[in-house]
Amino acid sequence: MIKILFVCLGNICRSPMAEFIMKDLVKKVEREKEFFISSAATSDEEEGHAVYYYAKEQLNKHGISCDGKTAVQMEKSDYDKYDYIIAMEERNVRNIYAICGGDPFNKVHKLLDYTDAGGDIADPWYTRNFALTYEQIEKGCKAFLKKF
Ligand code: 4NP
Repeated sequence: MIKILFVCLGNICRSPMAEFIMKDLVKKVEREKEFFISSAATSDEEEGHAVYYYAKEQLNKHGISCDGKTAVQMEKSDYDKYDYIIAMEERNVRNIYAICGGDPFNKVHKLLDYTDAGGDIADPWYTRNFALTYEQIEKGCKAFLKKF
């Protein structure tokens, strides 16, 4: 079982989009049984909140449900629980290191590092461009899935 945790700041926009896009991709290739996929926040600010309206709207537009998902904060023990801890941007990486006490097993990577372009997924909370966020995350997840 390949265990993947997607991580962003609030766990209400980017990382749940990544979680449900990735779940959809592995479902489409009939490989759900091989993966355990989840998402979490580095902050506790949105804990317990549902996926943000515009993030959910993008998922739904693509026929993907995120019903039942509520934000959780990442815990130090997640470092042992997951094989891949996939951040959306550099700031998440630094916060993950702080929570986990570094990255001794090289589990922490940025999603877009699996694409040729690399870089960060800008926070749609501020850019308000949720369609672009969806596109970037989908591209990242498709490239990441190619690893397996
Ligand atoms: P996310 O977006 O990290 O992609 O879930 C954000 C959600 C909430 C906040 C920031 C980013 N906030 O500051 O409340």
